Amino acid sequence: MRLAKLFFGLAACTLAATPFTAVAQQPIVIKFSHVVAHDTPKGLAAEYFAKRAAELTKGKVKVEVYANSTLYKDKEEMEALQLGAVQMLAPSLAKFGPLGVKEFELFDLPYIFDNYEELHKVTQGPVGQSLLKKLEPKGVVGLAFWDNGFKSFSANTPIKTPADLKGKKLRIQSSKVLEEEIRALSALPQVMAFSEVYQALQTGVVDGTENPISNLYTQKMYEVQKHLALTDHGYLGYAVIANKKFWEGLPADVRGQLEQAMKESTIYANKIAKEQNDKDLEAVKKSGKTQVYTLTADEKTAFKKALAPVHVKMESRIGKDLLQSVYKETGFDPSKF
Ligand code: LMR
Repeated sequence: MRLAKLFFGLAACTLAATPFTAVAQQPIVIKFSHVVAHDTPKGLAAEYFAKRAAELTKGKVKVEVYANSTLYKDKEEMEALQLGAVQMLAPSLAKFGPLGVKEFELFDLPYIFDNYEELHKVTQGPVGQSLLKKLEPKGVVGLAFWDNGFKSFSANTPIKTPADLKGKKLRIQSSKVLEEEIRALSALPQVMAFSEVYQALQTGVVDGTENPISNLYTQKMYEVQKHLALTDHGYLGYAVIANKKFWEGLPADVRGQLEQAMKESTIYANKIAKEQNDKDLEAVKKSGKTQVYTLTADEKTAFKKALAPVHVKMESRIGKDLLQSVYKETGFDPSKF
């Protein structure tokens, strides 16, 4: 099934990739695959990009957006991009380790960004640019960083202190930093594809998870989690990426128009991310299915203290110099907790 999908994807890609000059009338098709719902920061931004790409190229490019893992799941989509079966993705920054670009896991470090402003100093500045460049040897072009938001823990029992998560099986994305984060809470990390989380929570394969509210809400995870604590303990955002051979093979004028569409989509994505998460938090509260708990300042400090050692432990994985340059941008000092 998986192989068949890749085969048909590749066949479609070959058809889409060859006729730039041969069949001038045919639009260039870009398959943009992702794993979240349409009505999320990433889903909406992908649609916005598709719209602007069509407008700016005057129909020369058709971006087909495949949401909700309908085309590929997490791991498969990375393989599909490298093989050229899809042309664009926007995986979470926590999912680049298996590609061999483990530096992206710096974004998973607990409490490294207090807010979007601090984060943007990194993603929209020189450090972000240097990170995107690291993708090129993998046959991947990094086009932009898109925001989602700050993660909170959910489970079926109340969460006020780190000890409340002790011994729980918690689903995480495929990041070694996140594995260490969960271990620092004396809990058990379970790496799992995003598309499988709802069912795993429902059937008790895992006890809880972490995600920004927009994902918790749009995947209906709140229906199968009785408690949500607004820990805001880490960031989840995306790198928008393209198959390098495909991107560089585009006619220069078309590529320029797509770069402009991406610039506009990034502004849009990063504008709506907080709004979507705030809106979805209200919806979760209204549902009455999950009790939403706001930590006191002391309770938040207890989480920061419990998670601070993750920075030290993961320093060599991320790279000391890179980490220091991020701390410099954000003013973060793990020894302060
Ligand atoms: C997750 O797997 O929890 C997220 O990376 C999903 C996403 O793309 O936001």
